[in-house]
Amino acid sequence: MRSHLCGEINQKLIDQTICVAGWAQRRRDHGGVIFIDLRDASGLLQVVVDPDAAAAFAVADTVRHEHVLQVTARVRARPEGTTNPDLPTGMVEVYATDITVLNRAEPIPFQLDEEDVSEAVRLKYRYLDLRRESMQKTFRLRSAVTKYFRDFLEQEGFVDIETPILTKSTPEGARDYLVPSRVHAGDFFALPQSPQLFKQLLMVAGFERYYQIARCFRDEDLRADRQPEFTQLDIETSFMTEDEIMLMMERMIRDLFAQQLGVKLADTFPQISYAEAIERFGIDRPDLRNPLELTSVTDLLTEVEFKVFSGPANSPEGRVAALRVPEGCSKLSRLQLDQYGDYVANYGAKGLAYIKVNNLSLGREGLQSPILKFLPDDVVDAVLQRVEAQTGDVVFFGADTAKVVNDSLAALRVKLGHDLDLLQEQWAPVWVIDFPMFEKDQDSGQWTSLHHPFTAPKTDQIDQLADDPGSVLSRAYDLVLNGTEVGGGSIRIHQTDVQRQAFQALGIDDAEAEAKFGFLLDALKYGAPPHGGIAFGIDRIVAMMAGVDSIRDVIAFPKTQRASCLLTEAPSAVDSRQLRELHIRLRGSEQSKE
Ligand code: AMO
Ligand code: AMP
Repeated sequence: MRSHLCGEINQKLIDQTICVAGWAQRRRDHGGVIFIDLRDASGLLQVVVDPDAAAAFAVADTVRHEHVLQVTARVRARPEGTTNPDLPTGMVEVYATDITVLNRAEPIPFQLDEEDVSEAVRLKYRYLDLRRESMQKTFRLRSAVTKYFRDFLEQEGFVDIETPILTKSTPEGARDYLVPSRVHAGDFFALPQSPQLFKQLLMVAGFERYYQIARCFRDEDLRADRQPEFTQLDIETSFMTEDEIMLMMERMIRDLFAQQLGVKLADTFPQISYAEAIERFGIDRPDLRNPLELTSVTDLLTEVEFKVFSGPANSPEGRVAALRVPEGCSKLSRLQLDQYGDYVANYGAKGLAYIKVNNLSLGREGLQSPILKFLPDDVVDAVLQRVEAQTGDVVFFGADTAKVVNDSLAALRVKLGHDLDLLQEQWAPVWVIDFPMFEKDQDSGQWTSLHHPFTAPKTDQIDQLADDPGSVLSRAYDLVLNGTEVGGGSIRIHQTDVQRQAFQALGIDDAEAEAKFGFLLDALKYGAPPHGGIAFGIDRIVAMMAGVDSIRDVIAFPKTQRASCLLTEAPSAVDSRQLRELHIRLRGSEQSKE
């Protein structure tokens, strides 16, 4: 249908006759001469039609935005003064001798270069939205990223193996999407939250190095970086330590950024323990581009009369922490200080105390704060010394349960980082290690896995699993990039008895373990090698590389925040016969359509 791509037409082809096809992105009528910007996947080309080519001109006159055309034309240099150096084809134009309309387009609901089209409209007409240059660029980047990963891993001896989509629940901490079985009345498949158990079985099977670009399904609350179905680069290895795995993955990510973005990431990614991350940043995925840090002052405030501080300071679950903002006095208005108080309320904080250090050398006289009157001099001095306050700083304080203080000051730290433009480098990767195996569920009081139940405990802490599960650290590692968790993995339990102990700590007794994970416990008995792996969130990595805020912008057909597809209108009702076959009857008002 064509001899060339639009983007290929250049000065070397001058005087040649070519045939191209594509969409009419724009059509301009310049007093008798018609210009059409013809677009195909390779780029834009200027087509000129004048009345001398009468037949072509008559067709060009009927062309509207996004009509699909086939154009036969002669290549010529653009007249002086009309060249466009920003466009690869900007030195030439083509003089049309024949135009065929291959298909017409109705007026489209938004122009492709329009900036603020609502996301709802973009998603409903996603096939048009995807015609935009920026979207085309993003998906080409995504394709290059997955190709890069495949090339890298194949080179290192990894084997790409597919695992089932119709499967059994794999606990990664979210709700399952369920699929009813027609053949087995009342039974359900679960869609995989990750290929976790299958990749472990592939290690038992002796592949030693597995990878898969795997779709995962999780029915959880959605955010900008969470979709109900998303894509992992899923990896598992045998006979590698956590350090060896981290080193190899670091190399993979570093080379990816160098190759695709020309970005040089650190030669060695820093590592930080979970405990230190929480202590210094209030969160286990710190954005290390942000220089602000939390400082605990709990121990300094146990004796003060101010209950807001002494209460949490004396509670085993409490924390009092400070966040020092250098030069905050000049950078933050009174109004902003109040607004930050409202902001942290979103994270459960009951207030946000602060001290403005107008002049450190003047002692109390040089300080300004709503809480000074509640605190004795020596405590104020000790606190300011602890946080290394300087003249001009503002020091914020959070006092509550450690969870509320960490959540609220971590969020405040991020917000201040953006508001005050504090971010230092462009890219800050960090490994978070030494996670606790378990955390207490706030509601049930039960221990739950911080990662998943197959994560191995530190070798010398296996004995503590039974008596003191809260003290056991795991052999897990998360890769955090600019405050986003882009990957997570661990060394796994490869011994049946240790796996049983881990289940027990989680309140899963032998009968339940057998029913849910019997196949894994069995497999571990038949010579399971020591193994471990990791999974990267491909959507998140590509979104960061493309510089977009939401992973919806790097997924061709994403779901909305309410987990629905505006294009196909899924999920949708099904007819009652289908339900009957599946042995399902809907309750009450959720009746299916007849
Ligand atoms: P995890 O649950 O940490 O680990 O997932 C790995 C990575 O997947 C990405 N991710 C998501 N991306 C988009 N939307 C979501 N809803 C979503 N949930 C997770 C994150 C995350 O770091 N089986 C383990 C891996 C292992 O242990 O090897 C797992 O799934 O970037
Ligand atoms: P109040 O005594 O409630 O008026 O609080 C005095 C100051 O302490 C105000 O600046 C509040 O914002 C602050 N404050 C109150 N509760 C907390 C809290 N839990 N953590 C930090 N600051 C608080």
